Amino acid sequence: MNIRTMSDLAPANSRPHERIPVLRPQLPKAQALLPYLERIDASRIYSNWGPLVSEFSQRLAQRFAVPASGVVCASSGMAALMGAILANAGFARPGRDLAIVPDYTFTATALAVQMCGYRVVLASCHHDTWIFEAGELLARPDRLAGVGLVVPVAPFGRPVAQLPWQEFQSRTGVPVVIDAAACFESFTPPQHPSLGALPVALSFHATKSFGVGEGGCVVTTDERLAAAVLRALNFGFHGSRDSTGISLNGKMPEYTAAVGLAELDGWDAKCERAGRVLQAYREAFRAHGLESRLRCSPDISSSYVLLQCDTTLQAESVVETLAGDNIETRFWYGLGLGRQPCFQQAPRLDLHGKAAIEAGTVPGLPTAVDLAESNVKRVVASVASALCR
Ligand SMILES: Cc1ncc(COP(=O)(O)O)c(C=O)c1O
Repeated sequence: MNIRTMSDLAPANSRPHERIPVLRPQLPKAQALLPYLERIDASRIYSNWGPLVSEFSQRLAQRFAVPASGVVCASSGMAALMGAILANAGFARPGRDLAIVPDYTFTATALAVQMCGYRVVLASCHHDTWIFEAGELLARPDRLAGVGLVVPVAPFGRPVAQLPWQEFQSRTGVPVVIDAAACFESFTPPQHPSLGALPVALSFHATKSFGVGEGGCVVTTDERLAAAVLRALNFGFHGSRDSTGISLNGKMPEYTAAVGLAELDGWDAKCERAGRVLQAYREAFRAHGLESRLRCSPDISSSYVLLQCDTTLQAESVVETLAGDNIETRFWYGLGLGRQPCFQQAPRLDLHGKAAIEAGTVPGLPTAVDLAESNVKRVVASVASALCR
C-alpha cells in the first residue's frame, strides 16, 4: 500500500474534510471545441473579426434581441468597458475629466475608467440595492461639475435599468456606460429593460456563469455607437489603416470565439446543472432558518452565492469559521474600491449616509456547476454554526 500522508492512515470518518474552493469554473470540453477549431485551421483566420467572432457576435445579438451589429466582442470585460467608454464619452478632456463609479464593484470598473484618462470619484451604494440611482445623482448637481462620465454597475449580475440612465445622459449631457459584467443570464429575449442605446459591457471571464476564459462584449441597440466601439477596440481603424482616435487592441481572437460558440451550444445544460446547486443552497439555508440571508440566482448571476451578514465583524467571523472547516470564501468586490491602494485617495461622493453598503458584509460562498449536495450542506452547516456563536 502506498501511504502518502498521515491522514491516509486515519479512519474515513475522522479525516479532515476536503477543501471546498470558492469557485471551480467549468468551460466546454476539448471535444466540443474541435469542430470550431477545425474551422479555424481551414480558414487560417485567427483574429481581426474573423468568421467565428462574427458568428458568435450574431448569436449573442439574437439572444439579446438587439440588431445583428449591436454586439461587439472584446478580448476581456475590461477591454469591452474601455471600448464602450471611448465610443460613448471619448478620452477624458480638460474640465470634463471626472468619472463617477460605484465604490462597490470589482476594481476593473475603475481601472478601465482610469485607462481612458478619467479621475475616479467613488460614489456610495445603497445597502439594499447595492447601486446608486440616476435620480440620486440628479439631486446632486453640485457634484456633476467637471464630470465627463458615469459608470453604473450591475452588481453581481443584478441588472441596472437603462431608462433612468438614458434620461440622465440626455438631461445632463454626461455620457453613461453600464458595467453589466455578470449579466449574461439576465439578458434573455424579449428585449430586456437593461439593454438599449447606452453601451452595456459584459465579461466572459472564466469565473462568470457564461465563460470563455478571457473575453467580453459591448451590447447596444445604437448601430453607430457599435461601429465606434469596433473602431475603439481596433486601433481606431475604420475602413482604412488610419488611427482615427485614441484606441486600443481589444479584439477577441477566433480561438476565444470557438470557446464562446461551444459554451452557447452547451448553455442550457450548464444552466440546469447550476440550477440544481442553487436549489440545494436554497433548501439548506431554509433548513437552518437562514433563507433571508441568502443572495443567489435569479436575483443575481448563478456564478455567485452570497451571504448577507449584519456587520463586517459578523462576516469576518463567518469567514474565519469556514476557513477552519476548510471552506474557501471570497469578498468578490474586496472591501470596496476605496480600500484599493490605487483608489484610496479618490474623492468620495456620499449619497447614502448610514444606508450605504459596507462591502465587507457580503462574503461569497463556494459554488460550481458540479458542487456536490453534501458539500453545499457542509458549507451551510458551517455558516449556521458561525452565526450561532
Ligand atoms: C463588475 C465587473 N466589472 C468588470 C469586470 C472585468 O471583467 P474581465 O475580468 O473580463 O476583464 C469584472 C470581472 O470580474 C467585474 O466583476
